[in-house]
Amino acid sequence: MHNDIQEVLFTQEQIEAKVAEIGKQLSEEYEGRNPLIICILKGAFIFMADLVKQITVPVEMDFMAVSSYGTSTRSSGEVKIIKDLDSSVEGRDVLIVEDIIDSGLTLSYLVDVLQRRNVKSVKIATLFDKPARRTVDLKADISGFILPDAFVVGYGLDYAEKYRNLPYIGVLKPEVYSS
Ligand code: XMP
Ligand code: MG
Repeated sequence: MHNDIQEVLFTQEQIEAKVAEIGKQLSEEYEGRNPLIICILKGAFIFMADLVKQITVPVEMDFMAVSSYGTSTRSSGEVKIIKDLDSSVEGRDVLIVEDIIDSGLTLSYLVDVLQRRNVKSVKIATLFDKPARRTVDLKADISGFILPDAFVVGYGLDYAEKYRNLPYIGVLKPEVYSS
């Protein structure tokens, strides 16, 4: 285990099993369709890469980057599109792939943006979810793991751009924040 990690919440094996389960569920849900899967950068890139390998229907992929956190651990409440989609979403079945939902601000903003672009449908698959922290009314269609109110890193998630490459998800030692 990495020296800065206090506790592993979900292991690499547990995450792998969950991602396979979500992939199966999505393959059934989108049977006969051709969804456009949108990865929210940067946090969701590992989940996206592992998930699409488990989806058996034909899919297209696109990537979007939004700002929410900077290097602090709390949302500013402001959402800005840093990198927009390359493709048109009009009339498409869109699946948003997100790493974690916290306040829900980021995704409620994005769902709004996509609906104004006249998508046919929009669903959300998040690997991690902290429902206790919602400040807006937003529910994911698929939530992999429910997390306690703790800041987590690994499997794509960072603290100050570090720890994204850890294959598990864990809680940092408090001294890492204060140093
Ligand atoms: P909101 O509050 O808009 O936030 O739902 C979603 C975004 O916040 C980031 N986030 C975290 N990042 N560990 C992280 O590394 C966490 O525990 C955490 N909680 C929220 C994340 O970027 C997500 O896209
Ligand atoms: Mg993020």
